Amino acid sequence: MRIHNPALTRRQVLKAASSGAAAAAAAPWLRAASEPAILGGQPVRTAPFPRWPNFRERDEQALLPVLRSGVWSRAKVVEEAERRFARLMGAKYCLATCNGTNAIFTAIRALGIGAGDEVITTPYTFVASVLPILLADALPVFVDIDPQTWQMDPAKIEAKITRNTVAILPVHILGGICDMDRIGAIAKKHNLRIIEDACEAHGGEWRGRKVGTLGDLGCFSFQTGKTLTCGEGGAILGDDERLMDRCRSFHNMGRPYGSLASTSGEGHLIVSTKCRMAEYQASILITQMETFDAECQRRSENAAYLTERLQQIPGIVPRTDYPEVTRTAFYYYGFRYKHEEFDGLPRAKFIAALAAEGVRASRTLGVIEGKPINKEGCIRDALRSKAYQRIYPKEKLANYAADNECPECDRLVPETVGFHQSMLLGSRDDMDDIVRAIAKIYENRRKLVSRL
Ligand SMILES: Cc1ncc(COP(=O)(O)O)c(C=O)c1O
Repeated sequence: MRIHNPALTRRQVLKAASSGAAAAAAAPWLRAASEPAILGGQPVRTAPFPRWPNFRERDEQALLPVLRSGVWSRAKVVEEAERRFARLMGAKYCLATCNGTNAIFTAIRALGIGAGDEVITTPYTFVASVLPILLADALPVFVDIDPQTWQMDPAKIEAKITRNTVAILPVHILGGICDMDRIGAIAKKHNLRIIEDACEAHGGEWRGRKVGTLGDLGCFSFQTGKTLTCGEGGAILGDDERLMDRCRSFHNMGRPYGSLASTSGEGHLIVSTKCRMAEYQASILITQMETFDAECQRRSENAAYLTERLQQIPGIVPRTDYPEVTRTAFYYYGFRYKHEEFDGLPRAKFIAALAAEGVRASRTLGVIEGKPINKEGCIRDALRSKAYQRIYPKEKLANYAADNECPECDRLVPETVGFHQSMLLGSRDDMDDIVRAIAKIYENRRKLVSRL
């Protein structure tokens, strides 16, 4: 494990951390702490972190003509946004959608996935990775996570493949990246499709290639909190023209496009929906793209700085990435909070104490709001539905919960804490404040346990 001061071993740092003056010498951010703000002391900071979403004059200048044009439905501005996003990500084609959920649904239906099919995915994700599988009457099959990276564990995928498996839906969660070499090899061996859920990973790179271009189709979200946003919005990337035409057709009421152009005179070829992006959304997306790369760079640098320091505080275990990840996308900066190292201070109290210091942390990281997704009510609702009772064998449904247990994910969810990507756009002083606040709570852990 890397430590900030190369002259010190981790053990020395940890020892120093629990002994006032030596702590300051070993790592200045671990200096003897003052009274925690939650107990009436001075907070580490009162200034806000950078706000998100962020707009500049450029966004306004570009948006006004679109509003004034009266052309608000999908037209030239959306097409321009598609071209630019495809170029930014290194994909041949892009289709913009109204949001990420419908990007995934469109991808699933364009690949012909439906009743009786099984799709392999992860339980450590936002519900919107799985809802589209259920909406297609297909069966989500959950593979447990890698406890270090928090991504789908590739070593556990093959055991889940049956003759009904048609696709793998890896989710690059929190902007980290799944092991796409191993997932790609498994998909190839078993003739499975790959739909990447890159809704949290814009700009992330695996061996220098952007996520969303590593499978058959890659799906993105531009919802407000995301690192590239237009309030609500989504996109699908792909290199297969015919498949992308199917996506386009599905997202626009089955109208025929490109290679799907009909000679029969029919206007609506497939059962489909409508989930088009609007012109004003696309306008915001275009101008937001202009600052995107610089923002990614800043987040990466600040995250590396944070990791170097936070991993020296006992009980703080940052999420890691595979060595092949050449750029993490940092939707959230996540770490495990080991309450036992904080004398048993519960996570909720740790987060409350941090907030009092002026540092807002999240327990859910925008991912798991209740239970891990394999245990959420929407799964139970689907399994009990008339359609599922008819489509799937009784035994499969009866064994579903046991077959889809994911103990690593169950262990992770109660330990997660994270910072939204907007905080990583702050200055070095802002990062130091985060470290100071956590170190202050660590130093005061005993007092906090007894008084909170
Ligand atoms: C992992 C993941 N998948 C899918 C989505 C769905 O995107 P949207 O909210 O744009 O529908 C989100 C974001 O909210 C997400 O975080």
